[in-house]
Amino acid sequence: MQKVVWDMDPGIDDALSLILALRSPEVGILGITVVAGNAPLEMTGSNARRVLEHLDAGNIPVAAGAAKPLCRPLEDALGYHGPYGLGDSSLPPPAASLHPEPAWDFLSRAALEAPGEVTLLATGPLTNVACAFERHPQLPGLLAGVVLMGGAYGLTSYGRGNRTPAAEFNIWQDPEAARVVFDSGAGILAVGLDVSMGPAACLGARHLERIRTGQTPAACLAAQLVQYEMRHHGCCRMHDPLALAVLIDASLFRFVSGKVEVMVTDGPERGATRISPLDNGQESSGGSRPTQIASAVDGARFLELFVSRILDERHV
Ligand code: BDR
Ligand code: CA
Repeated sequence: MQKVVWDMDPGIDDALSLILALRSPEVGILGITVVAGNAPLEMTGSNARRVLEHLDAGNIPVAAGAAKPLCRPLEDALGYHGPYGLGDSSLPPPAASLHPEPAWDFLSRAALEAPGEVTLLATGPLTNVACAFERHPQLPGLLAGVVLMGGAYGLTSYGRGNRTPAAEFNIWQDPEAARVVFDSGAGILAVGLDVSMGPAACLGARHLERIRTGQTPAACLAAQLVQYEMRHHGCCRMHDPLALAVLIDASLFRFVSGKVEVMVTDGPERGATRISPLDNGQESSGGSRPTQIASAVDGARFLELFVSRILDERHV
């Protein structure tokens, strides 16, 4: 089982991935940190706890981080994810309080307590992660790795922007933070729109019908979230569950290696991600490790994994 600290901004697909994670023995969630992104910070913090409590996992701590990107105002995506970020689902307000530590200290402490064992999963804008790396410069080297959902790399015909023609939402929201993270020297594995926008990895009507047959709280919540996204956007994009899936079964993916450059300009290129070849000897010099970028996914096998785990009656 991989020890995971998860930075997220729930968000429909963040919530779907949390449901999947709680039914996946490969992943042990040590804690969640929340960031402003799809919704303002207060909502993402409350949504994470709502979902955890609904799934009988309210013992997992949730720590709050940044209320806005490093250098810019927040431009949330409530227009996409629904009035409070979780479609039209109606989970009660959380009973548990937030963890007292700020996200960056929580992340760093978790890594220090188990050096080399903790993977950081990031499925929102990278503000909290950048703050953690800046405040605790040893942190990138203490992590087993970073798996993140972000970027559009032109590796497939789907690897174009979703927030702007050039940029993916998480990177676009806080490009300065993304640059800090990609330049940190951490071992990063990035899942971008190149794979998550492919129609083969998108949940459709047949999958929803199957999920609806489930009677557990997890299946009922997943059905509500998927149904909302399908009704408003045609199919249900699985950006964040795909990033989680790297930790469950990396054989679902193919990856290319490179150095990722993030555009931090204010023009139309803001938040664009480019892959450049590795510098000569970069890998052997012991300096920064190359980023692995997902270039293909077995969409059918991934969706089957998702639906079958959601329907597994052994869990809540
Ligand atoms: C990413 O942006 C958010 O809206 C989703 O939750 C996902 O993390 C996809 O571009
Ligand atoms: Ca997200």
